[in-house]
Amino acid sequence: MLVLGVESSCDETSVSIVKDGKVVLSNVINSQIKIHEKFGGVVPEIASRNHIYQVTMVFEQAFKDAKIKPEDIDLVAVTKGPGLIGSLLVVVNAAKTFAMMYNKPIIGVHHLAGHIYANAIEHDMKFPCVALLVSGGNTELIYMEDHFKFEIIGETLDDAVGEAYDKVARVVGLPYPGGPHVDRLAHEGKDTYNLPRVYLEDGSFNFSFSGLKSAVINLHHNAMQRGEEIRINDLCASFQASVTEVLVRKTFMLAEKMNVKNIIVAGGVSANKGLKERFMAENNDRFNISIPSIKYCTDNAAMIGVAGYYQYKCNPKLDDLTLNATASLELE
Ligand code: KG4
Repeated sequence: MLVLGVESSCDETSVSIVKDGKVVLSNVINSQIKIHEKFGGVVPEIASRNHIYQVTMVFEQAFKDAKIKPEDIDLVAVTKGPGLIGSLLVVVNAAKTFAMMYNKPIIGVHHLAGHIYANAIEHDMKFPCVALLVSGGNTELIYMEDHFKFEIIGETLDDAVGEAYDKVARVVGLPYPGGPHVDRLAHEGKDTYNLPRVYLEDGSFNFSFSGLKSAVINLHHNAMQRGEEIRINDLCASFQASVTEVLVRKTFMLAEKMNVKNIIVAGGVSANKGLKERFMAENNDRFNISIPSIKYCTDNAAMIGVAGYYQYKCNPKLDDLTLNATASLELE
């Protein structure tokens, strides 16, 4: 079964062709990072305009790379939300146009289901499992009894992890998106600043990162005012140590509580080297841990093609051409 995956929920225009929910025949990603870098973050209006400029070429390239014809596609899977509404509208309409032109069935896919199913490309997903989803807009702990059965057990009460990374990076003068830069510098520094580990006292599996983010900002601000030198590498290492300790320990705690052996990690922040290292270091062979390779961690259409394949297998309910984009959408 050949699925055409289409994604643009933020600042990447991506089209992919995936065979049988596993084999990625093409995965073209046009990133707008260079365009938004000078603004220190994504400007939604500029993002949607650039999706319009790029989308046709990205479609064409995906077919060229996969060496197949549009007529060969069996199903179109497109990100319907959540995300920036202008960005989503461009691809939802592009995917619907393709479906109409070639008379192909279409389904709308949840962006976060896409991140989770990025794990099915290089590994076999095993159930039941606990998924830690960490991206620029979301931080969630999800219990999955089986394919497409999502139960959100915990989520952030304030900032998403990726958002906290990007804000910390900005304060210490690193370019957007800051996550990869903080990660790199963290590996050149030591955890010497005494930053808080926020576990929340209500015993829940929720997260909070705004206090940690403010602690870094205040520390930096006070040092600047006093004319003291800030060791940026050590500050990044301390921030990363605090974030990864809480993420990893809470994920293990939930896996133990639910009595599951399988853990999957997903979303842009799953590209973080420090997070991977801590998961491996603290595992002691207790759990099977799956983390996608970096190219499938951040936004891409292959993950949407894979999620679309499993969504259709679990419930072959198709959308029609009234399918619309939605900025806020619960993972059901
Ligand atoms: O999943 P994603 O590509 O987009 C969303 O759906 O949000 O995630 C983007 C986020 C950004 O906040 C970026 O800074 C973060 O993922 N990120 C990282 C790393 N690579 C990307 N954060 C920490 N360490 C990384 N290596």
